[in-house]
Amino acid sequence: MSSSSSTSAPRSSRTSSPASSGAGCHENATPRDEPMNTSDTTHPGDPWAGTELPRHIVRDAAGAPVLTHALSTREGRPWADLAWRIPHVDATHCADVLLAALRGWALSTDDEALAGALIARGARVVRHAHSYSRDLRAAPAPVAWSTPETPGGYQLTAVNRSAEALAPLLLKAYPPGHPDHSGWTPEEARNEVARILAGELLGPLLPCSGLALEGDTVVGACLVTLREGSPPHGGPWVIEVYRNPAPRYAGLGAALLRRALWLSTQAELPALSLVVSDGNPARRVYERLGFQHVGSSRTLELPT
Ligand SMILES: CC(C)(COP(=O)(O)OP(=O)(O)OC[C@H]1O[C@@H](n2cnc3c(N)ncnc32)[C@H](O)[C@@H]1OP(=O)(O)O)[C@@H](O)C(=O)NCCC(=O)NCCS
Repeated sequence: MSSSSSTSAPRSSRTSSPASSGAGCHENATPRDEPMNTSDTTHPGDPWAGTELPRHIVRDAAGAPVLTHALSTREGRPWADLAWRIPHVDATHCADVLLAALRGWALSTDDEALAGALIARGARVVRHAHSYSRDLRAAPAPVAWSTPETPGGYQLTAVNRSAEALAPLLLKAYPPGHPDHSGWTPEEARNEVARILAGELLGPLLPCSGLALEGDTVVGACLVTLREGSPPHGGPWVIEVYRNPAPRYAGLGAALLRRALWLSTQAELPALSLVVSDGNPARRVYERLGFQHVGSSRTLELPT
């Protein structure tokens, strides 16, 4: 989960994958104010209309709407997130319109037919991801999670360390071969963590975020922010969770998540959500902790 987070999860879920963007539980999204090549209204039946994010419409040369989406920026590119093809618009026609109207953009969608048509026309898949959410109103965290056991008795605390202390572990947790390996330099990793801590990436850091400490050393982190939009595809969001990869720390990530779920329940947050890249075994940890799969999507880069 790192880099800006938006996963386009279909109606039934959402995420982003960092072949090129170091990201774990999110993609690095920066909301955009100015629509490009799109108009800013919505369309009847749009399943994403309830996300509280402004929707934009892309039209073909005849002025007929072909697609709606939320607008942000991903790694410097304009990004059509949560893209939804208008019913009865042929996927190939939609793809042809998008390649002309959104040249060089990123686009996330759960629409397999549209993704396939875009890929056939030269779009590159940069992430295939799955969205998860635990509804804390329907399924509050149990009291036992107020003091989760940790594998080696490590101390779980609030986030009381700087980006400098958290960043080296972030690089260690996403080694080459990990589906979310970023290829970041230490400086880039530090900047990423600094932006998360400062609330610059996906909303302000929430107090249910936590660290695992071994003495004075950070051996795990769970960073939760308040994304724009509402659950399960916005709202309280696990933007990062990672631990020291050495086997003796196994279970530490789940302990930090239990703590976050408990504190979120106490704070009356509606849900905790996240996105995980396809192929990341962390997915099973989330399922064991009661996160429900709410959708899957692909993020594509459209040719310039
Ligand atoms: C996600 C994470 C915090 C979970 O921590 P945890 O609760 O301690 O859980 P573990 O890492 O022990 O186990 C998670 C699963 O990954 C598997 N796993 C862990 N390390 C692995 C490795 N190097 N290679 C393959 N599988 C691995 C475990 O066997 C386990 O699978 P299981 O559920 O079938 O038993 C931790 O795996 C991590 O830091 N991963 C790297 C960063 C990451 O991917 N973060 C999540 C982004 S969405």
